[in-house]
Amino acid sequence: MTAPARPFEHDGIAFGCDYNPEQWTTDVWDEDIRLMGEAGVDLVAVNIFGWSHIEPREGEYDFRALDDIIGRLHAAGIRVNLGTGTASPPAWLARRHPEILPMAEDGTRRFPGGRQAWCPSSPVFRAAALRLVEAVAGRYGDHPAVALWHVSNELGCHNALCHCDESAAAFRRWLEARYVTLDALNAAWGTAFWSQTYGEWDEILPPRATISTRNPGQMLDFHRFSSDELLAYYRAEADAIRPLSTVPITTNFMVTAHIENLDYWSWAGDMDIVANDHYLDHRLADPNAELAFAADLSRGLGGGAPWILMEHSTGAVNWQPLNKPKTPGEIIRNSLTHVARGADGVCFFQWRASVQGSEKFHSAMLPHAGTDSAVWREVVELGGIIGRIGELAGSRVEAQVALVFSWESWWATQTESRPSQSLGYLDQVHAAYGALHALGLTVDVVAPGADLSVYSLVVVPGLHLIRQSEATVLTDWIAAGGSAVVTFYSGIVDQDDRVWTGGYTGPLRDALGVRVEEFAPVAAGETLRLSDGATSTLWSERSHVTTAVAEASFVDGPSAGSPAITRNAWGRGTAWYVATLLEADALRALLGRVAAEAGVRPPAAVRGGDGALEIVRRRGADASYLFVVNHGDAAAVAEASGFELITGMPVAGDVDVPGGAVRIIREEAAA
Ligand code: GAL
Repeated sequence: MTAPARPFEHDGIAFGCDYNPEQWTTDVWDEDIRLMGEAGVDLVAVNIFGWSHIEPREGEYDFRALDDIIGRLHAAGIRVNLGTGTASPPAWLARRHPEILPMAEDGTRRFPGGRQAWCPSSPVFRAAALRLVEAVAGRYGDHPAVALWHVSNELGCHNALCHCDESAAAFRRWLEARYVTLDALNAAWGTAFWSQTYGEWDEILPPRATISTRNPGQMLDFHRFSSDELLAYYRAEADAIRPLSTVPITTNFMVTAHIENLDYWSWAGDMDIVANDHYLDHRLADPNAELAFAADLSRGLGGGAPWILMEHSTGAVNWQPLNKPKTPGEIIRNSLTHVARGADGVCFFQWRASVQGSEKFHSAMLPHAGTDSAVWREVVELGGIIGRIGELAGSRVEAQVALVFSWESWWATQTESRPSQSLGYLDQVHAAYGALHALGLTVDVVAPGADLSVYSLVVVPGLHLIRQSEATVLTDWIAAGGSAVVTFYSGIVDQDDRVWTGGYTGPLRDALGVRVEEFAPVAAGETLRLSDGATSTLWSERSHVTTAVAEASFVDGPSAGSPAITRNAWGRGTAWYVATLLEADALRALLGRVAAEAGVRPPAAVRGGDGALEIVRRRGADASYLFVVNHGDAAAVAEASGFELITGMPVAGDVDVPGGAVRIIREEAAA
């Protein structure tokens, strides 16, 4: 960590939004601030895309409008989450310095006219951006309205991987620092293959488009470099702010379905508070489970500390193939699910729906239809709820289960040449998490090698890349009495993408008691039958048990006769291995069985609800809070006693949770 942690302090749960007043005239600002008051908004992000407004020409600053809006927000008692303004460079910078523009892997530049068109390694861009940050931090660093610094915006959303010459030089510097000698680099990348050996550092390029598949070790390191490069950029902005302001500093992460380029495990320690942006992804089978996963991962990044949901939507986004509005009550359910999973702030993109620009069809708190709309009414209702639950800020989520998640495994899994192009890392993570979610179990998402001592069950989906040290943490924890479930394609390569030989799952093999000899993926649409009656898809493997017991074997397909689900006694613990993608019901049943044997239970007993409930407990110094979110139509009853914060009613024994509703119970001390 380069930064001393500065706590983000707020009265209760923050409720807010991105606000882009540049798009509106000042009479609209007056209405906005009045309506923000009506909705209970108390944290507003401004100046995120402000650069061309506050520095219209190089070195000429004009802060009049920003002074005005910050002053108005302050007068209304609204705190400011102040953007450094650097997210998107102004036209004059790209015109004067076209070398800042990012380069795609095919060597073509990307033009200005969108956003985030800058190369993370460009010294020219960085110098210009840091001059702006110093000007902004110098002006507003001790402004009483400023509660949080919002560095840039979603760093790496579009520009994470730049292949220009400047990036190539920076990549080489990064590689020299990592490997010191070319011999070490050649060994790590396996360049003996295809005559790729490097004799000079200057021969090394970013993995630009080639005529065949590229070196996977080089691609893995380019991912690591690119993540580190943007983190270095974040640090440079934070370092510029720090001497000029004591306010906490963060940036908004993108812990969502499809953003894979930044290894946030290495970033999180630099944030004074973790902040995440999350949008429901309707391309997925279970968007609510993915929301819960993203929230649990956001919490995990901060080691369990409260975090801020910096953006989500009140309705449709504008960037999926089909952009769906939310169903009635879904804004509240989504928001409170994030809070249940540790968020101490709920913010939206954006306050007022734009009428121009690429995002004019993106939902907002104040929609095009105005205040006479279901969205606005629900926003106001949510603001009221957020106001009533402030006492739970600072409390922490309780979990007995850990799921191991790794960006490095994501990168290494999705290399160009793999056993099946249908094999996706996140699909496996979602399958495992989705089963735990359906069982109502609360999950902490942890990094490979993290301390597991507080957990009763650890689930390891497809952890393709594993270091010996990370494997040892897991196998020692099992030996000490833990229960782990590992799924296929785990333990295949080391940190250099070098295969662990002697039978897959490499350093997990002995603990799992299985030796895998060959992968045998199956075509999309092909279903495999298992001896316990379950079915599976995607994957099988030819293997045999060494010390494990086969709980189910493949009945048909290319691995007929090989074990599909195994259980091994390892020390005082139990190691399960699943060699295929089980159908959802079977995976849920298996994880349910293992969880029950390990003594893992949902946070409260429930009846009804048709499997559409989320139940999570946050525990504070003086009380605990049980969240029950009912995503379905069927009524449910949760067993809890105390005081229900949304309805403001005492509850004893049974709490009714109607279809679509959320209940938050401050529990009596015995809970
Ligand atoms: C985020 C971004 C916002 C807005 C939003 C739309 O990626 O930070 O500026 O574009 O998505 O969903």
